[in-house]
Amino acid sequence: MRTALVTGGTGAIGRAVSAALAAAGAKVIAVCLPSDRASAEALLPAWHGQGLAISITAFDVSNAEDTSAALSAMAAQGAAIDIVVNCAGITRDAPLRKMSAHKWQQVLRVNLDSLFNVTQPLIDAMCQRGWGRVVNISSVNGQKGQFGQTNYSASKAGVHGFTMALAQEVARKGVTVNTVAPGYIDSPMIDAVPEAIRSEILKGIPAARYGSPADIAAAVTFLCSGAASYITGAQLPVNGGLYMSA
Ligand code: CAA
Repeated sequence: MRTALVTGGTGAIGRAVSAALAAAGAKVIAVCLPSDRASAEALLPAWHGQGLAISITAFDVSNAEDTSAALSAMAAQGAAIDIVVNCAGITRDAPLRKMSAHKWQQVLRVNLDSLFNVTQPLIDAMCQRGWGRVVNISSVNGQKGQFGQTNYSASKAGVHGFTMALAQEVARKGVTVNTVAPGYIDSPMIDAVPEAIRSEILKGIPAARYGSPADIAAAVTFLCSGAASYITGAQLPVNGGLYMSA
């Protein structure tokens, strides 16, 4: 049985990813913030009732020391991580002229530094075992930019740069590294966008609807499967046609 670590694993998209990977047979460790532990643990009875092998661990993936300590503790307990899904992400939207350094740093730390903090300590063991999957969650707004999101768009474009570089480093070791780029997905993150702006965005989506967390989970699960062993360094858009590139 493969073991998967899903950061942001109890958020709107992350919980769908955790459930889908567990339904596909993985043992899943869903990571949440310490402040979210109680609400995250409230998900466990339903998951366990469905026979899904999901546990929750709480640490701040934007903090290198906390993450290193948590991953070392897992390793000491014998957990060998085969699959990493870097799903933790936040928005702090503002036009650049109004953006504080704090909003810039918060977003870069959670959305981008976390990839280093989580993946770097785990990648060598995956290579040594000769099998591994890393899936990083970016965004359509990292591909096309978005008004009010210089911080978020920069971080999410950076996510795929990380993917392409790491994919080259580990391709000969049986480890694939890919990006899934969600469009606008039904979630509290989208609910936070003012209604007038949301309705304009919706008009630009050819599928004429937001996506569901399950749409993202399906793409992630495929990339983590044995069937996807020859796909690496790719960015898979799941955006209802909002942004298409050659
Ligand atoms: N393009 C061009 N101009 C725009 C614009 C746009 N998309 N949106 C707003 N403007 C204009 C307004 O018409 C207004 O013009 P005037 O000054 O001439 O009246 C001006 O910009 C507003 O500027 P403000 O400085 O007053 O902006 P604000 O502080 O009121 O709000 C904002 C800015 C908070 C960023 C707001 O525009 C917003 O929430 N935008 C949505 C951002 C967004 O899409 N976020 C996605 C979140 S979900 C997500 O990120 C998940 C994912 O991966 C897809």
